[in-house]
Amino acid sequence: MTISRAAEASVESASAERTRALGRRLGAMLRGGDVVCLVGELGSGKTTFTQGLARGVGFKGQVASPTFVLVRVYRGRVWTVYHIDFYRVGQDQTGDIGLEDCFGDPEGICVVEWPAAGRGYMPEDRLEVRLFYGEDEDTRRLSLRAFGPRSRRLLEPLK
Ligand SMILES: Nc1ncnc2c1ncn2[C@@H]1O[C@H](COP(=O)(O)OP(=O)(O)OP(=O)(O)O)[C@@H](O)[C@H]1O
Ligand SMILES: [Mg+2]
Repeated sequence: MTISRAAEASVESASAERTRALGRRLGAMLRGGDVVCLVGELGSGKTTFTQGLARGVGFKGQVASPTFVLVRVYRGRVWTVYHIDFYRVGQDQTGDIGLEDCFGDPEGICVVEWPAAGRGYMPEDRLEVRLFYGEDEDTRRLSLRAFGPRSRRLLEPLK
């Protein structure tokens, strides 16, 4: 029996632009069915990372915080990105959002800020990005964690 352990990597970012660049590299590798969770305090850079990610998927438009709309949809070259934010959503409210349409779309990539309330929808094999404040205003540490074979494959080139 193979016991699979979560794989991890840590990346330092010295600017918002660097965080976008990392998101973009990830975005270029993503395909339908992939799920990326973004965990970190307010202002840590979750939406900033998603701006790069959406660019990497081929979306040309504006990426803004979905905090008030819960889900934003970005059409890429091939895949559709569902940018979801559960910040204002309780565990018992997730049924009203139509999340099945996002997580169930075989051509959809789900990127989830504040994922706690949506845990029930997440597949086990997902990439989790934790963002931490660094020593000064513009530095962040991104801790990447893969929970299965697909997300491990995504993680490897980002190390
Ligand atoms: N290295 C960095 N990486 C990411 N963002 C940075 C960095 N340095 C500075 N910033 C700035 O920090 C802010 C991050 O805001 P952002 O909206 O991405 O955070 P968030 O984690 O999505 O917050 P919220 O929880 O409110 O949704 C932006 O203004 C960005 O320019
Ligand atoms: Mg945000």
